[in-house]
Amino acid sequence: MRKILILPILLAVLSGCSSHKPRVALFLYNGEDLFMQSFADKIVAMAGMDIELSVFDAQNSQLLQNEHIENQIKEGCDLMLINPVDRLGAYSVIRRLKSENIPVIYFNREPLFKDLLLWEKTWYVGAKANQSGQMQAELVMELFGNDPGNLNRYDRNGDGRIQTVILKGEQGHQDAEIRTSEVVRSFRLMGFDLDILITEVANWDKDEAYEKMDDIIKTYGHDMELVLANNDAMALGAIRRMRQKGMFKDSNGNGRVDMDDDSWIPVLGIDGLEQAVQMIEEGYLYGTVINDSLSMARAMRDLSEAILNGRNIYDLPYRIEDNKYIWIDYQAFIKNH
Ligand code: GAL
Repeated sequence: MRKILILPILLAVLSGCSSHKPRVALFLYNGEDLFMQSFADKIVAMAGMDIELSVFDAQNSQLLQNEHIENQIKEGCDLMLINPVDRLGAYSVIRRLKSENIPVIYFNREPLFKDLLLWEKTWYVGAKANQSGQMQAELVMELFGNDPGNLNRYDRNGDGRIQTVILKGEQGHQDAEIRTSEVVRSFRLMGFDLDILITEVANWDKDEAYEKMDDIIKTYGHDMELVLANNDAMALGAIRRMRQKGMFKDSNGNGRVDMDDDSWIPVLGIDGLEQAVQMIEEGYLYGTVINDSLSMARAMRDLSEAILNGRNIYDLPYRIEDNKYIWIDYQAFIKNH
């Protein structure tokens, strides 16, 4: 897997004139995470030359992230962009930054509201996880014919229920918990009968999903009618294993996996990774829900600029909910068949 971050990477440094530029530090929970890699690339690309941006990879260790944050406080950082390892750990970080008068924008992993309230110069930029769960469910309902009492041919065994495998992200993460419960709730609300064969945690990770799918296919391969992954990376891992087991075919030889083939099972992800869009093109992945990191990165940049230049953040073209949150919408994505 690509290692994107050398610690620290110093960007946007113009020779001889860096000292007066505002210092911004970007802290990532884990540089191995595929979605965070592309998110970080966008933040870095938008940073511009009038700030000095340093990037730190916590490698999934809150202790390491705390050290990075402490070092940056000593270095005289003017603004922090934090993707926390442990979102509940934000409590002590926010109190610490308040004592140093350092503003902070959290993103992607959401601290508790009561913690955001600890320091007025604390915000969160993200997406509402329930929206992604609902959109993922809508894509599936449409695929199965939108009529819960009369499922179409994708109900392979014709029992009127959808036999489903769920691949869940990291336990306790707001996106993993809410996407899972919301996707299930949306089916039930619309009268669809979801038969959950298993919910397996694969921690957002492609390789872990690939490993776990081995046993899942052994046990449930014959019954499975749907694979719902909380993110694209896990969907890609699942597809890799499913391909190995001969589960996708191009029966009509058109160079694309054939949805009409009896062995075709819809797999859905969330994020809209480039590799996922490619898999949708090729017909392995049915759909995804775009987790719009480009718009989030833009909102973070605009908010950062306003904070650093002492401008009124309420003049920005974003709604700032509860004085704390900027929410960016998800978008459903499938290939037009
Ligand atoms: C989610 C994303 C996952 C993973 C996670 C990390 O929003 O869908 O792929 O990157 O954030 O916090």
